[in-house]
Amino acid sequence: ATAAQTPGSAGRLVVVSNRLPSGDSPSGGLVVALKDSLQRTGGLWIGHSDKGDTGAGSLSFHQGGGFGRASFTLNGAVYDNYYLGFSNTVLWPAFHGRADLMRIAPEYLQAYRRANSRIAKLMIPHLRTADRIWVQDYHLLPLASELRLQGFAGRIGLFLHIPFPSLADCAALPNPADLFEWLSHYDLVGFQTRRDLVNFEDCSSRLSRVQRLDDQRFRLCERKLRVGVFPIGIDSLGFMDEARNADIEDRMRSLTYSSMMIGVERLDYSKGIPQKFRALQTLLENHPELIEKVDLLQVAPPTREDVSAYRDIREETEHLAGRINGKFATVNWTPIRYIHRAIPRNELAGLYRQARVGLVTPLADGMNLVAKEYVAAQDVGNPGVLILSRFAGAAETMQSALIVNPHDPVEMAEAMHRALEMPADERRRRHLALLQEVLEHDVGWWSSSYLATLG
Ligand code: F6P
Repeated sequence: ATAAQTPGSAGRLVVVSNRLPSGDSPSGGLVVALKDSLQRTGGLWIGHSDKGDTGAGSLSFHQGGGFGRASFTLNGAVYDNYYLGFSNTVLWPAFHGRADLMRIAPEYLQAYRRANSRIAKLMIPHLRTADRIWVQDYHLLPLASELRLQGFAGRIGLFLHIPFPSLADCAALPNPADLFEWLSHYDLVGFQTRRDLVNFEDCSSRLSRVQRLDDQRFRLCERKLRVGVFPIGIDSLGFMDEARNADIEDRMRSLTYSSMMIGVERLDYSKGIPQKFRALQTLLENHPELIEKVDLLQVAPPTREDVSAYRDIREETEHLAGRINGKFATVNWTPIRYIHRAIPRNELAGLYRQARVGLVTPLADGMNLVAKEYVAAQDVGNPGVLILSRFAGAAETMQSALIVNPHDPVEMAEAMHRALEMPADERRRRHLALLQEVLEHDVGWWSSSYLATLG
């Protein structure tokens, strides 16, 4: 162990994530939430960059963004096996209830371990004993154990942005006990929902050595671990402003039907896009009076395209959109407008505000911030209706939405119909309850409650 940490001096917040936020593009919620603490403590955000010398033995420091940013590089094959391989072909499907889509290969796990060990090694010379390290998400689960191995004894927390798997999916991982060994080196592990915490307890008691000490503390693999539920939020006031000020071009306005429904998500198999399209088909079959009256704007930017399951979901989605459009379209109208590109945040905010219905219907999702953005973007006097899958983490706190089972096309179609017909006073009542929740538990609340617990 070779910890070259600077002793003394006040502790800083050190955030580590797979992606380093860029210094110039508009900030996402996470950056907005952490910027103050990073600035105040002279902290640092560390993440991957694909630019630079992959053999470089140190972090590269960057200007811009208003706080310290440092990047690491990894050898191309190691990065692919760590990011596309173990992170997104093993952990992501298992943690989203799709163990059938896992592809287990020994080189994926090896690269995942190697990547985390290298990141820890690059961090160590830049750490101070009093620093608090906040690790983000499933790419970096072994980082605490690697930092401990290399001598860092300060506080380390993890926040898992995605769901914690059920027992069956957890047992399908290669060496499931590793997961608990990795987690046991953190001081605090934060989950999005109570359901994730229950899954963690269930899996750790069956697949590892765990003992409950009290409500929030466990002894896991002979080490003490604190856990907690911290549902992540958005920069609610910022997004409300963005939606109010969005400049939706006239071209869009004239294309927007009186009953536009909107769906926005990366083109990921966990998001339930084909199920949503089938529900729209059922809606048009069961309520033909809605033909030419309602349409779905589906924005689904590409993601992880080098993983075969993502190529398959693209094929399925595009085939289905083509089939439904072919069946129902008229000369003046198409039921599904499908956009396979990212749309700038401010433009999206305006589109959410125009849409009568927000469709957030994943099959599994850690939280789903689109649900919160849709609510924040609405005109409070004449709001749209949120339809929310019971499998989105957001459903735990957003019960005033129309909650649906995305596997049931008839239930989904009836929820769409109900949303489109909903009287204004019911829409306002539901929206107000949701907006209060989104404002009260925004991303600032999330980061400060997590960091207060980390200590
Ligand atoms: O939900 C998990 C997550 O890592 C998010 O934090 C992120 O926005 C999303 O998936 C995108 O994934 P990727 O970094 O693989 O493009």
